Amino acid sequence: MKLVKLLSCSTVAAMMFIAPQVHAYKVGLAMPTQNEDRWYNEGVLLQNKLKNAGFDVELFYGGDGDIDLQNKQIIRLTNLGVNVLVVGAIDGAAMSDSLGFAKSKGVAVISYDRLITKTPAVSYYATFDNEMVGHMQGKYLVDKLNLATTSTPKNIELFYGSLTDNNARFFWKGAMDELRPYIQSGQAVIRSGQTTPEEVNTPDWSTTEANKRMGELIEKVGYGPGKTRLDGVLCPADCISSGVLFALKRNGYDSSNMPVVTGQDAVPEALDSIENGEQAMTIFKNPNELCNTIVSMVTNMSKGQPVEINDTSTYDNGAKIVDTYLCMPELIDKSNVAKARR
Ligand code: BGC
Repeated sequence: MKLVKLLSCSTVAAMMFIAPQVHAYKVGLAMPTQNEDRWYNEGVLLQNKLKNAGFDVELFYGGDGDIDLQNKQIIRLTNLGVNVLVVGAIDGAAMSDSLGFAKSKGVAVISYDRLITKTPAVSYYATFDNEMVGHMQGKYLVDKLNLATTSTPKNIELFYGSLTDNNARFFWKGAMDELRPYIQSGQAVIRSGQTTPEEVNTPDWSTTEANKRMGELIEKVGYGPGKTRLDGVLCPADCISSGVLFALKRNGYDSSNMPVVTGQDAVPEALDSIENGEQAMTIFKNPNELCNTIVSMVTNMSKGQPVEINDTSTYDNGAKIVDTYLCMPELIDKSNVAKARR
Protein backbone atom coordinates (compact mmCIF):
# COMPACT_ATOMS: atom_id res chain seq x y z
CA MET A 1 0.00 0.00 0.00
CA LYS A 2 2.80 2.27 1.05
CA LEU A 3 4.75 1.29 -2.04
CA VAL A 4 1.80 2.01 -4.32
CA LYS A 5 1.40 5.36 -2.68
CA LEU A 6 5.09 6.01 -3.00
CA LEU A 7 5.08 4.99 -6.64
CA SER A 8 2.10 7.08 -7.49
CA CYS A 9 3.66 10.08 -5.77
CA SER A 10 6.89 9.69 -7.64
CA THR A 11 4.99 9.16 -10.90
CA VAL A 12 3.14 12.39 -10.31
CA ALA A 13 6.38 14.13 -9.44
CA ALA A 14 7.99 12.77 -12.63
CA MET A 15 5.03 13.87 -14.67
CA MET A 16 5.19 17.32 -13.17
CA PHE A 17 8.88 17.40 -13.95
CA ILE A 18 8.51 16.45 -17.60
CA ALA A 19 5.25 18.28 -18.33
CA PRO A 20 6.04 21.19 -20.66
CA GLN A 21 5.53 24.65 -19.24
CA VAL A 22 2.57 25.87 -21.23
CA HIS A 23 2.82 29.60 -21.87
CA ALA A 24 0.58 31.05 -24.55
CA TYR A 25 2.60 32.70 -27.28
CA LYS A 26 1.34 36.24 -27.62
CA VAL A 27 1.35 38.28 -30.81
CA GLY A 28 0.93 42.06 -30.96
CA LEU A 29 -0.37 43.50 -34.24
CA ALA A 30 0.20 47.19 -34.97
CA MET A 31 -1.50 48.24 -38.19
CA PRO A 32 -0.99 51.77 -39.58
CA THR A 33 -4.58 52.98 -40.01
CA GLN A 34 -8.17 51.81 -39.82
CA ASN A 35 -9.19 54.36 -42.43
CA GLU A 36 -7.98 52.53 -45.54
CA ASP A 37 -9.76 49.38 -46.68
CA ARG A 38 -6.56 47.48 -47.13
CA TRP A 39 -5.22 48.01 -43.62
CA TYR A 40 -8.49 47.67 -41.74
CA ASN A 41 -9.33 44.39 -43.46
CA GLU A 42 -5.87 42.88 -43.14
CA GLY A 43 -5.71 43.67 -39.42
CA VAL A 44 -8.89 41.68 -38.87
CA LEU A 45 -7.88 38.88 -41.25
CA LEU A 46 -4.48 38.42 -39.65
CA GLN A 47 -5.91 38.51 -36.16
CA ASN A 48 -8.40 35.76 -37.06
CA LYS A 49 -5.81 33.58 -38.74
CA LEU A 50 -3.42 33.87 -35.79
CA LYS A 51 -6.20 33.11 -33.30
CA ASN A 52 -7.22 30.07 -35.34
CA ALA A 53 -3.62 28.90 -35.20
CA GLY A 54 -3.81 29.04 -31.39
CA PHE A 55 -2.06 32.33 -30.60
CA ASP A 56 -3.14 35.08 -28.24
CA VAL A 57 -3.50 38.27 -30.26
CA GLU A 58 -3.77 41.99 -29.47
CA LEU A 59 -4.61 44.23 -32.44
CA PHE A 60 -4.07 47.99 -32.51
CA TYR A 61 -4.56 50.46 -35.37
CA GLY A 62 -2.50 53.66 -35.51
CA GLY A 63 -5.51 55.98 -35.72
CA ASP A 64 -5.43 57.84 -38.99
CA GLY A 65 -1.75 57.18 -39.59
CA ASP A 66 -0.57 58.76 -36.32
CA ILE A 67 3.08 57.82 -35.79
CA ASP A 68 3.23 59.00 -32.16
CA LEU A 69 0.23 56.84 -31.39
CA GLN A 70 1.79 53.85 -33.14
CA ASN A 71 5.01 54.23 -31.14
CA LYS A 72 2.98 54.33 -27.91
CA GLN A 73 1.14 51.20 -29.01
CA ILE A 74 4.46 49.38 -29.53
CA ILE A 75 5.46 50.23 -25.95
CA ARG A 76 2.05 49.15 -24.66
CA LEU A 77 2.11 45.85 -26.54
CA THR A 78 5.61 45.19 -25.22
CA ASN A 79 4.43 45.88 -21.67
CA LEU A 80 1.50 43.52 -22.25
CA GLY A 81 4.09 40.79 -22.67
CA VAL A 82 3.84 39.95 -26.37
CA ASN A 83 6.48 37.59 -27.73
CA VAL A 84 6.40 38.96 -31.23
CA LEU A 85 5.23 42.19 -32.82
CA VAL A 86 3.88 42.35 -36.37
CA VAL A 87 4.11 45.97 -37.49
CA GLY A 88 2.67 47.70 -40.55
CA ALA A 89 4.62 50.93 -40.12
CA ILE A 90 3.27 54.44 -40.64
CA ASP A 91 6.73 55.97 -40.87
CA GLY A 92 9.23 53.12 -41.05
CA ALA A 93 12.14 55.40 -40.15
CA ALA A 94 10.58 56.75 -36.96
CA MET A 95 10.30 53.62 -34.81
CA SER A 96 13.86 53.07 -33.56
CA ASP A 97 13.12 54.06 -29.95
CA SER A 98 9.93 52.07 -29.44
CA LEU A 99 11.31 49.02 -31.21
CA GLY A 100 14.61 49.37 -29.33
CA PHE A 101 12.52 49.10 -26.15
CA ALA A 102 10.72 46.01 -27.52
CA LYS A 103 14.05 44.42 -28.42
CA SER A 104 15.43 45.11 -24.94
CA LYS A 105 12.50 43.06 -23.57
CA GLY A 106 13.25 40.18 -25.94
CA VAL A 107 10.35 40.86 -28.31
CA ALA A 108 10.90 39.78 -31.92
CA VAL A 109 9.61 42.06 -34.69
CA ILE A 110 8.16 41.20 -38.10
CA SER A 111 7.89 44.12 -40.49
CA TYR A 112 4.53 43.76 -42.25
CA ASP A 113 4.39 44.88 -45.89
CA ARG A 114 6.38 48.10 -45.23
CA LEU A 115 10.04 47.87 -44.25
CA ILE A 116 10.97 49.39 -40.91
CA THR A 117 14.29 51.17 -41.35
CA LYS A 118 17.19 52.55 -39.28
CA THR A 119 16.96 49.91 -36.56
CA PRO A 120 18.47 46.46 -36.04
CA ALA A 121 15.35 45.49 -34.03
CA VAL A 122 13.61 43.94 -37.07
CA SER A 123 13.79 40.13 -37.21
CA TYR A 124 11.93 39.45 -40.48
CA TYR A 125 10.10 41.22 -43.27
CA ALA A 126 7.10 39.83 -45.18
CA THR A 127 5.84 41.73 -48.19
CA PHE A 128 5.07 41.57 -51.90
CA ASP A 129 7.67 42.23 -54.55
CA ASN A 130 7.26 46.00 -54.43
CA GLU A 131 9.53 46.82 -57.34
CA MET A 132 7.62 44.35 -59.48
CA VAL A 133 4.40 46.19 -58.57
CA GLY A 134 5.92 49.38 -60.01
CA HIS A 135 7.08 47.57 -63.15
CA MET A 136 3.56 46.22 -63.69
CA GLN A 137 2.05 49.71 -63.38
CA GLY A 138 4.66 51.38 -65.62
CA LYS A 139 4.54 48.63 -68.24
CA TYR A 140 0.74 48.82 -68.32
CA LEU A 141 0.96 52.49 -69.27
CA VAL A 142 3.67 51.76 -71.86
CA ASP A 143 1.52 49.05 -73.46
CA LYS A 144 -1.88 50.72 -73.31
CA LEU A 145 -0.54 54.04 -74.60
CA ASN A 146 1.59 52.27 -77.24
CA LEU A 147 4.55 54.34 -76.11
CA ALA A 148 7.00 52.16 -78.02
CA THR A 149 5.37 52.72 -81.39
CA THR A 150 3.20 55.83 -81.21
CA SER A 151 3.93 58.68 -83.58
CA THR A 152 1.92 61.09 -81.41
CA PRO A 153 3.56 61.82 -78.05
CA LYS A 154 1.31 60.88 -75.11
CA ASN A 155 0.66 63.18 -72.16
CA ILE A 156 1.04 61.56 -68.77
CA GLU A 157 1.25 62.72 -65.16
CA LEU A 158 3.01 60.98 -62.28
CA PHE A 159 2.04 60.40 -58.65
CA TYR A 160 4.33 59.05 -55.93
CA GLY A 161 3.13 57.62 -52.59
CA SER A 162 4.12 58.88 -49.16
CA LEU A 163 7.72 60.00 -48.77
CA THR A 164 7.82 58.27 -45.36
CA ASP A 165 6.97 54.83 -46.80
CA ASN A 166 9.94 52.79 -48.01
CA ASN A 167 7.64 50.87 -50.39
CA ALA A 168 6.90 54.05 -52.33
CA ARG A 169 10.55 54.15 -53.40
CA PHE A 170 10.35 50.62 -54.82
CA PHE A 171 7.05 51.24 -56.64
CA TRP A 172 8.55 54.38 -58.17
CA LYS A 173 11.77 52.67 -59.20
CA GLY A 174 9.94 49.86 -60.96
CA ALA A 175 7.49 52.17 -62.75
CA MET A 176 10.11 54.70 -63.76
CA ASP A 177 12.43 52.01 -65.13
CA GLU A 178 9.59 51.26 -67.58
CA LEU A 179 8.57 54.86 -68.34
CA ARG A 180 11.91 56.71 -68.29
CA PRO A 181 13.08 55.64 -71.78
CA TYR A 182 9.88 57.02 -73.31
CA ILE A 183 10.01 60.24 -71.29
CA GLN A 184 13.59 60.69 -72.46
CA SER A 185 12.71 59.99 -76.09
CA GLY A 186 9.75 62.38 -75.97
CA GLN A 187 7.14 59.65 -76.65
CA ALA A 188 5.70 60.43 -73.21
CA VAL A 189 5.41 64.05 -72.11
CA ILE A 190 4.80 65.31 -68.58
CA ARG A 191 3.24 68.68 -69.27
CA SER A 192 3.19 69.82 -65.64
CA GLY A 193 6.98 69.49 -65.57
CA GLN A 194 6.63 67.75 -62.18
CA THR A 195 8.81 64.67 -62.28
CA THR A 196 10.60 64.13 -58.96
CA PRO A 197 9.26 62.33 -55.85
CA GLU A 198 9.56 65.64 -53.98
CA GLU A 199 7.24 67.26 -56.52
CA VAL A 200 4.75 64.45 -57.09
CA ASN A 201 4.47 62.73 -53.69
CA THR A 202 1.18 62.25 -51.83
CA PRO A 203 1.51 62.99 -48.10
CA ASP A 204 0.20 60.08 -45.97
CA TRP A 205 -1.09 58.36 -49.13
CA SER A 206 -4.07 60.68 -48.73
CA THR A 207 -6.95 60.45 -51.22
CA THR A 208 -7.79 64.08 -50.47
CA GLU A 209 -4.24 65.21 -51.27
CA ALA A 210 -4.25 63.22 -54.51
CA ASN A 211 -7.57 64.75 -55.48
CA LYS A 212 -6.25 68.23 -54.71
CA ARG A 213 -3.07 67.77 -56.73
CA MET A 214 -4.91 66.32 -59.75
CA GLY A 215 -7.29 69.30 -59.64
CA GLU A 216 -4.29 71.64 -59.64
CA LEU A 217 -2.67 69.82 -62.57
CA ILE A 218 -5.90 70.04 -64.58
CA GLU A 219 -6.03 73.76 -63.96
CA LYS A 220 -2.32 74.42 -64.51
CA VAL A 221 -1.97 72.47 -67.76
CA GLY A 222 -5.51 72.91 -69.05
CA TYR A 223 -6.27 69.19 -69.32
CA GLY A 224 -9.83 68.22 -70.17
CA PRO A 225 -12.03 66.61 -72.79
CA GLY A 226 -11.82 68.86 -75.83
CA LYS A 227 -8.87 70.69 -74.25
CA THR A 228 -5.29 69.48 -73.67
CA ARG A 229 -5.37 65.68 -73.92
CA LEU A 230 -4.36 63.66 -70.86
CA ASP A 231 -3.56 60.06 -71.77
CA GLY A 232 -2.37 58.42 -68.58
CA VAL A 233 -1.78 58.89 -64.87
CA LEU A 234 0.68 56.77 -62.91
CA CYS A 235 -0.97 56.18 -59.54
CA PRO A 236 0.91 53.82 -57.22
CA ALA A 237 -2.17 52.80 -55.17
CA ASP A 238 -5.96 52.74 -55.26
CA CYS A 239 -6.20 55.34 -52.46
CA ILE A 240 -4.46 57.75 -54.85
CA SER A 241 -6.36 56.69 -57.99
CA SER A 242 -9.60 57.29 -56.14
CA GLY A 243 -8.73 60.97 -55.56
CA VAL A 244 -7.35 61.37 -59.09
CA LEU A 245 -10.46 59.85 -60.70
CA PHE A 246 -12.68 62.07 -58.61
CA ALA A 247 -10.89 65.18 -59.93
CA LEU A 248 -11.01 63.88 -63.51
CA LYS A 249 -14.74 63.14 -63.31
CA ARG A 250 -15.39 66.56 -61.81
CA ASN A 251 -13.70 68.00 -64.88
CA GLY A 252 -15.73 66.23 -67.54
CA TYR A 253 -14.03 62.85 -67.93
CA ASP A 254 -16.09 59.65 -67.93
CA SER A 255 -15.63 56.05 -68.99
CA SER A 256 -15.70 57.05 -72.68
CA ASN A 257 -12.63 59.29 -72.52
CA MET A 258 -10.85 58.39 -69.28
CA PRO A 259 -7.02 58.48 -69.29
CA VAL A 260 -5.30 55.19 -68.34
CA VAL A 261 -5.16 55.36 -64.53
CA THR A 262 -3.20 52.71 -62.64
CA GLY A 263 -3.62 51.52 -59.04
CA GLN A 264 -2.75 48.92 -56.45
CA ASP A 265 -4.54 46.93 -53.70
CA ALA A 266 -7.65 45.77 -55.57
CA VAL A 267 -9.95 47.46 -53.03
CA PRO A 268 -13.67 47.01 -53.79
CA GLU A 269 -14.09 50.63 -54.97
CA ALA A 270 -11.24 50.18 -57.46
CA LEU A 271 -12.65 46.89 -58.75
CA ASP A 272 -16.03 48.55 -59.31
CA SER A 273 -14.31 51.43 -61.06
CA ILE A 274 -12.44 49.00 -63.33
CA GLU A 275 -15.69 47.23 -64.18
CA ASN A 276 -17.26 50.60 -64.96
CA GLY A 277 -14.42 51.46 -67.35
CA GLU A 278 -12.91 54.26 -65.24
CA GLN A 279 -9.77 53.02 -63.44
CA ALA A 280 -7.77 50.89 -65.88
CA MET A 281 -5.91 48.46 -63.63
CA THR A 282 -4.90 47.60 -60.10
CA ILE A 283 -2.54 45.16 -58.43
CA PHE A 284 -3.94 42.35 -56.34
CA LYS A 285 -1.75 41.54 -53.38
CA ASN A 286 -3.62 38.55 -52.04
CA PRO A 287 -4.06 39.28 -48.31
CA ASN A 288 -4.47 35.57 -47.58
CA GLU A 289 -1.03 34.90 -48.98
CA LEU A 290 0.67 37.59 -46.90
CA CYS A 291 -1.25 36.74 -43.72
CA ASN A 292 -0.53 33.01 -44.14
CA THR A 293 3.14 33.87 -44.48
CA ILE A 294 2.99 35.73 -41.17
CA VAL A 295 1.17 32.86 -39.45
CA SER A 296 3.82 30.45 -40.66
CA MET A 297 6.64 32.77 -39.51
CA VAL A 298 5.07 33.19 -36.06
CA THR A 299 4.42 29.45 -35.75
CA ASN A 300 8.04 28.62 -36.50
CA MET A 301 9.34 31.36 -34.22
CA SER A 302 7.16 30.07 -31.39
CA LYS A 303 8.67 26.61 -31.84
CA GLY A 304 12.22 27.90 -32.18
CA GLN A 305 12.34 26.58 -35.74
CA PRO A 306 13.88 28.29 -38.79
CA VAL A 307 11.63 30.76 -40.60
CA GLU A 308 11.14 30.38 -44.36
CA ILE A 309 12.53 33.33 -46.33
CA ASN A 310 13.24 33.80 -50.03
CA ASP A 311 15.23 37.06 -50.16
CA THR A 312 18.37 37.74 -48.16
CA SER A 313 19.84 40.63 -50.14
CA THR A 314 17.33 43.28 -51.25
CA TYR A 315 16.00 44.85 -48.08
CA ASP A 316 18.80 46.79 -46.41
CA ASN A 317 17.08 48.85 -43.71
CA GLY A 318 20.13 50.99 -42.99
CA ALA A 319 21.06 48.95 -39.92
CA LYS A 320 21.00 45.42 -41.37
CA ILE A 321 19.83 43.41 -44.36
CA VAL A 322 16.49 42.05 -43.24
CA ASP A 323 15.60 38.43 -44.04
CA THR A 324 12.49 38.64 -46.19
CA TYR A 325 9.68 36.57 -47.63
CA LEU A 326 8.38 38.05 -50.87
CA CYS A 327 4.90 37.19 -52.14
CA MET A 328 3.94 37.67 -55.79
CA PRO A 329 1.60 40.48 -56.90
CA GLU A 330 -0.95 39.98 -59.72
CA LEU A 331 -2.13 42.47 -62.31
CA ILE A 332 -5.90 43.00 -62.48
CA ASP A 333 -7.79 44.84 -65.20
CA LYS A 334 -11.17 44.48 -66.88
CA SER A 335 -10.17 41.12 -68.34
CA ASN A 336 -9.77 39.36 -64.96
CA VAL A 337 -11.39 41.57 -62.36
CA ALA A 338 -13.46 38.75 -60.85
CA LYS A 339 -10.26 37.08 -59.67
CA ALA A 340 -9.65 39.81 -57.10
CA ARG A 341 -13.17 39.87 -55.66
CA ARG A 342 -13.21 38.44 -52.14
C1 BGC B 1 1.34 49.40 -49.44
C2 BGC B 1 0.25 49.54 -50.48
C3 BGC B 1 -0.74 50.60 -50.02
C4 BGC B 1 -0.04 51.87 -49.61
C5 BGC B 1 -1.01 52.87 -49.03
C6 BGC B 1 1.95 50.73 -49.17
O1 BGC B 1 2.96 50.60 -48.23
O2 BGC B 1 2.30 48.48 -49.90
O3 BGC B 1 -0.39 48.31 -50.65
O4 BGC B 1 -1.60 50.92 -51.06
O5 BGC B 1 0.95 51.60 -48.66
O6 BGC B 1 -1.57 52.38 -47.90
